[in-house]
Amino acid sequence: MILSYEPKDLPVARVHEILLGTVAPRPIAWASTVDKEGRVNLAPFSFFNVFGSNPPILVFSPNRRVRDNTSKHTLENIELTRECVINIVNYELCGQMVLSSAEYDEGVNEFIKAGLSMEPSLKVKAPRILEAPAQYECIVRDIIHTGDGGGAANLIICEVVHMHVNDHIFNEEGKIDPVKVDNVARMGGIWYSRAEKGLFQMPNPKGRSNIGFDGMPEFIIHSKFLNGWDISAMAGLPSLPTSEEVNQYKSEASALALINQYSGDQLISATHEKAKILIREGHPQEALVLLLAIGV
Ligand SMILES: Cc1cc2nc3c(=O)[nH]c(=O)nc-3n(C[C@H](O)[C@H](O)[C@H](O)COP(=O)(O)O)c2cc1C
Repeated sequence: MILSYEPKDLPVARVHEILLGTVAPRPIAWASTVDKEGRVNLAPFSFFNVFGSNPPILVFSPNRRVRDNTSKHTLENIELTRECVINIVNYELCGQMVLSSAEYDEGVNEFIKAGLSMEPSLKVKAPRILEAPAQYECIVRDIIHTGDGGGAANLIICEVVHMHVNDHIFNEEGKIDPVKVDNVARMGGIWYSRAEKGLFQMPNPKGRSNIGFDGMPEFIIHSKFLNGWDISAMAGLPSLPTSEEVNQYKSEASALALINQYSGDQLISATHEKAKILIREGHPQEALVLLLAIGV
């Protein structure tokens, strides 16, 4: 049985859900911009694709929010500056990409919140993401607004004026190797697709603020056991645990089991390994308390 509708007969949120769940997987533009004071902004957009190579044209759309019809900082910045950088997302960076999508207040630099390196661009003011497999400096040729209600699109038509491609994604013949690029794409809801392997899920960050990489202790950022995904999961929590919570955890059975079995560097390694398992089982809060209690 086919279900048929006119879009106007459905709530916008339902139209949005059906379209995004079926027009998928969509590539992700990780767009960096600056505001009129030069403050840096970064956010991901999966209403995105390439439309030409002579001149090279990329189009993406920061839409009006379905929920409350507000507009996005990326659109506001581009309307003022008419430039941006579109960075490409790979699997390794996915946790940090999702962290950068939180609805931070105006002026918050998501490179810093998500622990990414700001590399100066050559032709535009916005920096690019050094870790991204490709970074496209763009000037904006046109912006097409399709409406003024929640869910309306704002198509940003970008001309690429400088291309930066990490040489690790090329094979020996100089062709791009899709396994080395390791692209990810957005599906509906919290579903994503890793081009090489298939579907996986990542929840959206909650709230307008979080710990961020900038609020995370250095020993966690530099842990050789934790990767960008692991740190992002903890950095997305609303705040660091209190010293009472940390001290209390030291006397709990799971902490005592580690303390009784290991000491010195071995205790640190075992604690970070255990934290990694907790994060991957969906318990970043407990992992963070554990690390602060006995992982230093
Ligand atoms: C993978 C992913 C793709 C997204 N795609 C879009 C999109 O195409 N259009 C949009 O308006 N918002 C999209 N969002 C939500 C924005 O990233 C989010 O609203 C962000 O806070 C906007 O930031 P800004 O206000 O700094 O521009 C996406 C979020 C994620 C995680």
